[in-house]
Amino acid sequence: MRKTYRIGILGATGAVGEELITLLQERKFPIAELRLLSSERSAGKQLVFDDQSVTVQSVSAEVLKGLDLVFASAGGAVSRQWLPIAVAEGAIAIDNSSAYRMDPEVPLVVPEVNPEDVVQHCGIIANPNCTTILMCVAIAPLHRAIPIRRIVASTYQSASGAGARAMAEVKVQAQAILDGASPNVEVLPYPLAFNLFLHNSPMDGSGYCEEELKMVRETRKIMGEPSLALTATCVRVPVLRAHSEAINLEFAAPFAPDKAREILRHAPGVMLVEDFDRNYFPMPLEATGKDPVLVGRIRQDLSHTCGLDLWLCGDQIRKGAALNAVQIAELLMARGLL
Ligand SMILES: NC(=O)c1ccc[n+]([C@@H]2O[C@H](COP(=O)([O-])OP(=O)(O)OC[C@H]3O[C@@H](n4cnc5c(N)ncnc54)[C@H](OP(=O)(O)O)[C@@H]3O)[C@@H](O)[C@H]2O)c1
Repeated sequence: MRKTYRIGILGATGAVGEELITLLQERKFPIAELRLLSSERSAGKQLVFDDQSVTVQSVSAEVLKGLDLVFASAGGAVSRQWLPIAVAEGAIAIDNSSAYRMDPEVPLVVPEVNPEDVVQHCGIIANPNCTTILMCVAIAPLHRAIPIRRIVASTYQSASGAGARAMAEVKVQAQAILDGASPNVEVLPYPLAFNLFLHNSPMDGSGYCEEELKMVRETRKIMGEPSLALTATCVRVPVLRAHSEAINLEFAAPFAPDKAREILRHAPGVMLVEDFDRNYFPMPLEATGKDPVLVGRIRQDLSHTCGLDLWLCGDQIRKGAALNAVQIAELLMARGLL
């Protein structure tokens, strides 16, 4: 008989948590019991899983007892507070926050890129930053063919990357502007509707913001290339869901665009989307709700003989967070580690 698991979702009422619920259902994850956990604010709320109503519970040491697996998507401070307790109670935790990503004891896993890293865990496995996951899925197969020497990434990140409330705020702002009123700003630092601004994560003394530094550090860890040269500029754009990225890659040797195209056509987790005649390439609306990262507009960098440019879009709540986490759990099951 197929083994079934007692699962907890910490942050079940959030953008990533709700997607986790959908994916566990869609992918028929073998569940014996599902506990949906949040803060006091949402305790008592009813959510639906597999046509059954499940009551959301406020997280506590008591409700974390007896779980086999906890998916956490409630922010870094919540993960730091509760995941060690869940692990001490016998669970494996897959964490969507940035709390443990750079901890040398914690694997940082994109199943299409470094599945073997999942083995060496001490109870917690980290899910990488969303823009980083999307980029790594697209560039790792190219790096395997010819080593990448330098990456320049420019991101166009949707409102939902900042959570369910940010997505709702942009809709209200758009309507206010259309009605001739001033947009209200509560969740994001500036109006995002009909606007864009540099990523709203805290600035580092170097002039980079945290989101950009996550891309640098996490890509190096996932790809197992501690000195890979990488720079990023992260921008929040008025798209509701799915992030886009313009990526410039410099390789150790010239890389023919057709060869890159052929590799990406067969790469796991990638869908090649390009029709140069119709100017048809990946778009966030078309990436929304899809599992693969859409990649296209692969072209020779005119400024460098060993350079390639590409464009990608991916649903960052799905592959950039919830799907990647569920795939890590599936990987653990497949390897008999869960
Ligand atoms: N959104 C994305 O695209 C994305 C992608 C990758 C990673 N992530 C990461 O995933 C995490 C969640 O992001 P999100 O976008 O889903 O955020 P969100 O929509 O704001 O949801 C936050 C969730 O955390 C819960 N929560 C907040 N404070 C809590 C507390 N003190 N104790 C227990 N639960 C608490 C909330 O419960 P209440 O309903 O009770 O407030 C809610 O369920 C963050 O760490 C984020 O960085 C997000």
